[in-house]
Amino acid sequence: MSTTIKPAGDHGRPDSVAPGRQLAIDTGNFYRQGVGREGILHEELDAQADRIERVHQQVRNGSSGGLDAEFACLDLAHTMPAMLAEIRQMAGTLCAYRDVVLVGIGGSSLGTKAIGQAVTGTARNDAPQLHYVENVDPHSLEQLLTRLDPASTAVLCISKSGGTIETVAQFLILRDWLTRSVGREAARRQQWVITDPEQGWLRELAVRENLPSLPVPARIGGRYSVLSPVGLLPLAVLGVDIEALLRGAADNAARCLTADVVANPALEIAALSVLLDTLRGKRIAVMMPYINRLRLFVDWYCQLWAESLGKWDRRQPGSEPAGTLPVRAMGAVDQHSQLQFYLESRHDKFFTFIELAAWEHDLPVPLDAVDARHFPYLEGKNMTDIIGAEFRATRQVITDAGHPNMTIRLPALDAYVLGQLIDLYQRATVYAGLLYGVNPLDQPSVEKGKRLAIQFLRAMPRS
Ligand code: PA5
Repeated sequence: MSTTIKPAGDHGRPDSVAPGRQLAIDTGNFYRQGVGREGILHEELDAQADRIERVHQQVRNGSSGGLDAEFACLDLAHTMPAMLAEIRQMAGTLCAYRDVVLVGIGGSSLGTKAIGQAVTGTARNDAPQLHYVENVDPHSLEQLLTRLDPASTAVLCISKSGGTIETVAQFLILRDWLTRSVGREAARRQQWVITDPEQGWLRELAVRENLPSLPVPARIGGRYSVLSPVGLLPLAVLGVDIEALLRGAADNAARCLTADVVANPALEIAALSVLLDTLRGKRIAVMMPYINRLRLFVDWYCQLWAESLGKWDRRQPGSEPAGTLPVRAMGAVDQHSQLQFYLESRHDKFFTFIELAAWEHDLPVPLDAVDARHFPYLEGKNMTDIIGAEFRATRQVITDAGHPNMTIRLPALDAYVLGQLIDLYQRATVYAGLLYGVNPLDQPSVEKGKRLAIQFLRAMPRS
């Protein structure tokens, strides 16, 4: 059965579980009627209806069936509550430390960083300080070690494969630092592990030394793992409301049960992004929030989108490279850096703006009589008025220049809303991969790079 595709925009979407707390998603400027000739025609979307319906069914079937399902990553909102008691208990133990060092890279840390930064203000302020050890930069690690007191530091090592070289090397350095400082037995009690339930060096180590550990469910890959113990444990340590996070994801998933793109925002974002690439040559996907606290969310999105979609199966005759390059921007800062390029360079981009409907704090601009003569338009205005006007102006000039764009309006910035946003983008990414005809869950070339780095290390003399 084919789907009837109706004109989009946020209008016409059924209210889901928590009206007023939902993401408002306006895709009107992805369409020709919103942005002109570079936008997608409704007939072009209609022509894809059968394919979109098939992909939607594949995702629906593949995400039901619990943790063994192919797309189990899209159902963590329903499977993880069973693990919450264990996660909470472990978080309670970790909270006794002043500092927690999270060793992990890529999908093992980006999601936690994104949510941690976005909801900072709402989390507990007596939480341990979380330090991220990602890049193998000796200066950064050295600096961190000089600041930490080993007696009050816990080390949490997160790696799905349990063998990523950056993570392994730095975890070994941290283990050694702890052991030399507090002794073998105390050091053992200060290490926690999240890794594959059965395989890999890290799992073997956890079993051998009886380190407290949580599993990354076997079918959950790194960049789709923030709603698994990979993100839930450190976020619980930070005091983030992880139940609300999962509820937000579940509510967004409930919004995406239909194959009707007008009602299913993840499917619409995926279908339009793929069509903007394949029909209009939009190879660059710029994400531009007007909220500082979403800077790391954009980093998380960049990994998810790039690593999931940037693929080319050359074995398929006539196949084309897939994916659009995700680019980070921040409003209003990048109006003073990137906007000139966006407006006048090639028509090869589409934009996603994110704005906040209700700020928690505001600051009025104080003006005396002299200042008011210079800036009459600032009289009686607050910072949120200014950022709101900046956002609307940028969106308008981008639209007037004919660049397709969409806007996500967040009702607030809290764990529940972040849960919706995470589910929206994980789901849109999986849909987009399947619409391109690539596997959104693998990363063959990343694995190639990892293997080559190991070969180079083997060939190097000892230092
Ligand atoms: O998404 C992915 O699978 C990767 O980006 C991984 O998260 C990254 O390579 C780290 O891998 P691991 O968690 O196995 O250490």
